[in-house]
Amino acid sequence: MSKERYIGIMSGTSLDGVDVVLCEIDSSTCTLISSLEYPMPRELKSDILTMIDGKTTLEQVGQIDHRLGVLFTQAVGALLIRENIDASSITAIGSHGQTLWHTPNGEYPFSMQLGDANIITAKTGIPVVADFRRRDIALGGQGAPFAPAFHEFIFSNINTSVSIVNIGGMANITVLAKNMNEKLIGYDTGCGNVLLDMWIAKHQNESYDKDGAWAKSGEVDYTLLDAMMADDYFSLDYPKSTGREKFNEAWLNDMLTRRGSSVCSLVLEQDVQRTLLELTALSISNEVLKFNTDVALLCGGGAKNSFLVERIKALMPNVEVAIAQNADEIEAMTFAWLAYKRIHKEVVNLKDVTGASDNAVLGAVYE
Ligand SMILES: Nc1ncnc2c1ncn2[C@@H]1O[C@H](COP(=O)(O)OP(=O)(O)OP(=O)(O)O)[C@@H](O)[C@H]1O
Ligand SMILES: [Mg+2]
Repeated sequence: MSKERYIGIMSGTSLDGVDVVLCEIDSSTCTLISSLEYPMPRELKSDILTMIDGKTTLEQVGQIDHRLGVLFTQAVGALLIRENIDASSITAIGSHGQTLWHTPNGEYPFSMQLGDANIITAKTGIPVVADFRRRDIALGGQGAPFAPAFHEFIFSNINTSVSIVNIGGMANITVLAKNMNEKLIGYDTGCGNVLLDMWIAKHQNESYDKDGAWAKSGEVDYTLLDAMMADDYFSLDYPKSTGREKFNEAWLNDMLTRRGSSVCSLVLEQDVQRTLLELTALSISNEVLKFNTDVALLCGGGAKNSFLVERIKALMPNVEVAIAQNADEIEAMTFAWLAYKRIHKEVVNLKDVTGASDNAVLGAVYE
């Protein structure tokens, strides 16, 4: 079958920008043709964070859904114009949406992604696949992470055992053993960049800690690190997934209290940043080491944090650590590929990752 063109749109938990990719896909390949990162308006980011903090009305929820739908449409339009591509050449757009809340456990599990797909299809004329996660949750799954199915697809030709670690707002791991007949393993290892971003925004008014420079100026506070690593999430068996509902400012304040100090009276601000970076590095390397893979491929924004990468390497000296090809685009490529899977009505191999009772066709089509 000939290759078809798909667009993937991803706006992750970091709220740092909207990633848009154009891919050519067939049953055995997914080739990145072009990509762009469309800026997340400052006001929209701040309104979303306020909503996640719980101060919101139903009217605001509806408005954010609309505003995100417009933003995603603009992001797609920017890519089409820059590349001089006719919308009619695109088979479909896969739009993940912006996660506002993700609680896959409990009596009424759900995962909420906003960004009205009706707006995207109405304005671009391209069919849109969205609402990917809820079918998996309906089947008892975590509804996340989904990247492992795509990692299995694109890295299937690697001739060694490999862990793929995506370091976004949260971090997730995929384990690809040499014997690919084994069950696919993947889960969220915990927080990635989200607490580092939150702490530096609060104390240095920067949106992120470039290359981990501020963290590097501090010292690890091992009492605080131990308190954080003692959190139940890190010892929980997979399937598991997490989000901002758990790893947020309140969680860090609780850890600082457990450490036995009011915020920063005994621990310097840069020491907290350094300790948060160590938390991300340690919670990732602990999981990679469990599977004894020869190689770890890093992707996501955290793979650009050179000090974080240095710490991950130092914590697992016997594992070859490298940055994955298309490290910035893999998450958005995942949703271009998931749109391909939905358009072709193919089930996605995720049940062993998410814990769902079965593999399913994921996503709803808007056309
Ligand atoms: N040069 C850099 N130095 C340090 N951190 C960086 C650098 N570049 C990016 N980052 C971090 O990466 C984050 C963005 O990563 P990414 O876009 O992968 O996360 P995301 O949007 O949450 O995605 P997802 O949730 O889908 O994995 C930024 O918020 C920042 O913390
Ligand atoms: Mg991002």
